[in-house]
Amino acid sequence: QDSRLERISSAIRVIPDFPKPGIMFQDITTLLLDTKAFRDTIDLFVERYRDKNISVVAGVEARGFIFGPPIALAIGAKFVPMRKPNKLPGEVISEEYSLEYGTDKMEMHVGAVQPGDRALIIDDLIATGGTLGAAIKLLERVGVHVVECACVIELPELKGREKLGDKSLFVLVKGAA
Ligand code: PRP
Ligand code: MG
Repeated sequence: QDSRLERISSAIRVIPDFPKPGIMFQDITTLLLDTKAFRDTIDLFVERYRDKNISVVAGVEARGFIFGPPIALAIGAKFVPMRKPNKLPGEVISEEYSLEYGTDKMEMHVGAVQPGDRALIIDDLIATGGTLGAAIKLLERVGVHVVECACVIELPELKGREKLGDKSLFVLVKGAA
């Protein structure tokens, strides 16, 4: 187990000063090139969630679209995309959230989930927690029970966990902000 986490951690490339000075960018595209590390990443999530009665895996655009679907297929859950604004063609509900500068919006199709669904929210990384916080709110507004949020990487210095209230967060590796 530990060796899997070490391999995952070393497969993530850190690029300083991207997209702007002072940011240490956690690049998961190199993890996707390491077939063993990518498989281990998915396996670790599947092992944790396969017996938790999850009916929906909600993936946050864009990088939650990479990790979410293989997990959803493996545990037999629906995959629901949580998208950037004005991308989904059907009727949507949306939730605003704050970024470092300004705000953004997240949207989900009405009817994609039902009250009583049990959701796992997946993204690649939690920084300030604004993104996952919005995903939790969107799902809870329509009566979905959010079982847990899961990310590959957490940047603990940014204290994003605190934005998730009493929701639990599961992460594989930690990085420096
Ligand atoms: C990044 C990352 C998370 C989010 C975390 O996505 O993939 O989704 O930021 O930040 P937070 O915890 O401070 O909210 P980004 O919005 O850069 O877009 P992308 O995934 O579409 O590239
Ligand atoms: Mg993202």
